Amino acid sequence: MEGERVKVLLGFTVPEGEPFYIPIHHTVITGMTNLSGKTTTVEAILHRSKSKALIFLTKRGEKHFPDTHQIPPFYKERFDWEYVRGLLEASMHERLKFETPWIIRISKKAHSLKEVRLLLGRLLTERKLREFDRNIYTLLAAYLDKVLPTLTKAKHKFTDTLHLKEGINVMDLTEWYTNEEVQMLVIQSCMEHILKYENNVIVALPEAWKLLPQSRNTPVKLYFEKFIREGAANNNYLIIDAQDLGGVDKSPLRQVSVWIMGKMMEANEVQRLLKQTLGLKIKPEEVQTLPLGHFLVAYGREVQKVYVWPYGIPKTIAVDVAKGNLNPEFVRDMLLKPIDKPSASIPQPLLNRLTELDEKIETLNKRVDSLDKTLAQLLTQKRGITKLQNIQLQKTFYNIKVTQTQKRFTLTDETVQGKIMWLAKEGFLNTWRSQTEIEKELTRRAWTIPRISVYKALKALVKQGFIGQRKTDRMQFKIAPNVRFTNE
Ligand SMILES: Nc1ncnc2c1ncn2[C@@H]1O[C@H](COP(=O)(O)OP(=O)(O)OP(=O)(O)O)[C@@H](O)[C@H]1O
Ligand SMILES: [Mg+2]
Repeated sequence: MEGERVKVLLGFTVPEGEPFYIPIHHTVITGMTNLSGKTTTVEAILHRSKSKALIFLTKRGEKHFPDTHQIPPFYKERFDWEYVRGLLEASMHERLKFETPWIIRISKKAHSLKEVRLLLGRLLTERKLREFDRNIYTLLAAYLDKVLPTLTKAKHKFTDTLHLKEGINVMDLTEWYTNEEVQMLVIQSCMEHILKYENNVIVALPEAWKLLPQSRNTPVKLYFEKFIREGAANNNYLIIDAQDLGGVDKSPLRQVSVWIMGKMMEANEVQRLLKQTLGLKIKPEEVQTLPLGHFLVAYGREVQKVYVWPYGIPKTIAVDVAKGNLNPEFVRDMLLKPIDKPSASIPQPLLNRLTELDEKIETLNKRVDSLDKTLAQLLTQKRGITKLQNIQLQKTFYNIKVTQTQKRFTLTDETVQGKIMWLAKEGFLNTWRSQTEIEKELTRRAWTIPRISVYKALKALVKQGFIGQRKTDRMQFKIAPNVRFTNE
């Protein structure tokens, strides 16, 4: 039956353990990092769909995909003003509004980004340029100067032909982890090629919050709607990884018909979207309490709780997890064991250590990713304050041990220091006093001392810690709090 052919076994219903199929269509997978199992779900769908598929690695420390083909990054330069604007917005992390007419004007005259930069340079030397135009062209030139070197450096690593093999094709873009604009150009190029020349291909898009941000354009976002609209005609579909929907542009996601929702703390946005698009109701609490590998799947008029059957795991084990007889963590530990046999040339203890370090790196990378994400969200969302509730501040208390040492000072009226300490003993220095006030007090007692000597004595007492000093509009002195006058 035609319908059966395009359905894929996702996993097993909870708690019945019955097989659960989803249609191959544009799909969103949501869920908290590391606690839901999105990538594992994508992998399972792609393997069992038997379609040609393309997956991008954009984060460092992403999981290993066995039984797939590694293919080189594909990039074909496209050129029009929307694209230039998307590229600049992606790299600057901000929306370019009033600059658009200037981008249009200059992009129309050029055939490549390099040419745009050259034209800008030439324009900026023109005398009759209005001040306002000059400012905008200068800004655009500065933007391009940020993007162009990375692109030029990356260019020799790209191929300009895309050959997708049967099965899962993996394109590794982790090298440009910090240059999102490069990742986006490659992803956009692939989407465009597939939409134009391929049929029956599933493209898995990572990190929706980066590719489809709410507040600005990116090359992928500009192309995304076209792919969503036109892809289905040739059976080309997208699977979108959206950790959560905060900061993601929701409007293009309204076209998505399959929603696979894993554990999320903030489920209100997804709840609202499902209600608007599919007319389905879910309770946020249900999403908040989902265990690892468990998802609420919504399509058509149905919502079903499902345990996703990971690739490489025996079916009976997955059914047992769905029925509640086994913990998903048991499966996770099975998945953690390398599927490839380790090479005999590496001694076992070393291999164990490598695996351990690998895991640590992965955990750290995940932390970096999530911190990156929080930061990007805070920077893009001016209303970010509401998000701050998820950030825990940790208070650290330091115990400072104070050791008291005793210093002796013999009070005498034979030295200037001694005379000043006499005043202190009588309480004159219990409040802050200026040098002039101290001199006046000394004179009142018939101790007439040159100003420089008073100054030196005060400095010496400060240095020994008997007297404190502070500077307001002038220098002031006061007895140190730990000084005690005794008669010993
Ligand atoms: N269905 C499942 N059953 C058991 N363990 C699973 C399942 N899915 C994923 N896991 C395990 O949970 C961990 C996280 O999985 P995965 O990388 O797929 O999560 P993710 O949601 O993509 O995370 P991230 O947002 O960090 O990319 C991995 O150790 C994986 O093996
Ligand atoms: Mg993932």
